[in-house]
Amino acid sequence: MSAAPILQVRNLRAAFRTHHFGVRRDVPAVDDISFDVRANEIYGLAGESSSGKTTLIKTIAGVIKPPLELVGGSARFAFLPDCESLAQASPAAVAAIRWSKLAYIMQGSMNVLNPVRRIGKTFEDFALRHIGSAGDFQQRVEAHLQRVRLEPSVLRSYPHELSGGMRQRVTIALATICAPDFIIADEPTTALDVIVQKDVLAMMRDIQGAMGASILFVTHDMGVHAALTDRLGIMYAGRLVEEAPTDVIFRGALHPYTRHLIASLPRIGDRSERKSLTGVPPNLANAPPGCRFHPRCPLAVDICRVQAPAMTELATQHRVACHVVTGEAA
Ligand SMILES: Nc1ncnc2c1ncn2[C@@H]1O[C@H](COP(=O)(O)OP(=O)(O)OP(=O)(O)O)[C@@H](O)[C@H]1O
Ligand code: SF4
Ligand SMILES: [Mg+2]
Repeated sequence: MSAAPILQVRNLRAAFRTHHFGVRRDVPAVDDISFDVRANEIYGLAGESSSGKTTLIKTIAGVIKPPLELVGGSARFAFLPDCESLAQASPAAVAAIRWSKLAYIMQGSMNVLNPVRRIGKTFEDFALRHIGSAGDFQQRVEAHLQRVRLEPSVLRSYPHELSGGMRQRVTIALATICAPDFIIADEPTTALDVIVQKDVLAMMRDIQGAMGASILFVTHDMGVHAALTDRLGIMYAGRLVEEAPTDVIFRGALHPYTRHLIASLPRIGDRSERKSLTGVPPNLANAPPGCRFHPRCPLAVDICRVQAPAMTELATQHRVACHVVTGEAA
């Protein structure tokens, strides 16, 4: 695997800026996040609901609309080296790379296929302008559908005639038909049952292998990350708290929150009760000071309540943000 990053995220910050009766309120949903995605890898982003996963990838993909605002930092793609972030790029620059270099499969996208358009027409609307003549186009679409294990007859169907698994394959086929270098996929398998989910994941791996793309794969489901991703970043309340190769996270997570996520995974044959964390993730409009995990953390000490821990590299490719784990609290 090449070590060259195709995406470099540095100190990225974004917030939902709202006004209530003239008082400005910031929800810091992406707070000082830095990580790289390398060429040809599948990088996973995990974390509970509302931890900021979707907001982070929207910021990276430049899909920023009020009340969301970019606050600072950069998210630079290797195919657009002069552009600090797509959020600041011109609409023409973004249009030039969207789908041909960067594909974004949004959360819930399989439900937004145009209900009154046959799938074949949607492919034309979407990709004809990127891909040669109409003759080549038909051939290329059919070959690509085969890659995602769909029959060409699907092109004559309306979305409601397809199962959830087939619709998700269609959205993945749409996103990948132009062979992008980088694919962002937000919870693409969450609405599918387990068997179909496994199938779609295997298909994404195949497609990534065949096209040599990198994938930034977002899901709260740690089982999916175990099956698919090469490296994993764990988010909590808008911050990245741990990052390591996926097998390292599953064998030896260091952050108390990651350890909880892994300990709460069901295991075949093990009927013992899973220990749950007390409390709920914070409301980001009123996030706790210091380490945002401190109100729920079994290891919390005084410094945790006042100072945010920095991401620190404790071993090769293993970063963690925790005062106790890094020894700063000693
Ligand atoms: N339009 C909005 N205005 C204000 N706050 C928002 C808005 N949309 C999202 N948020 C807040 O931003 C935070 C991050 O939400 P986000 O959707 O990015 O989380 P997520 O990790 O993708 O969750 P899920 O797993 O449920 O998809 C949450 O606290 C959410 O309440
Ligand atoms: S910094 Fe403190 S509160 Fe945060 S995870 Fe580490 S021990 Fe827990
Ligand atoms: Mg989300």
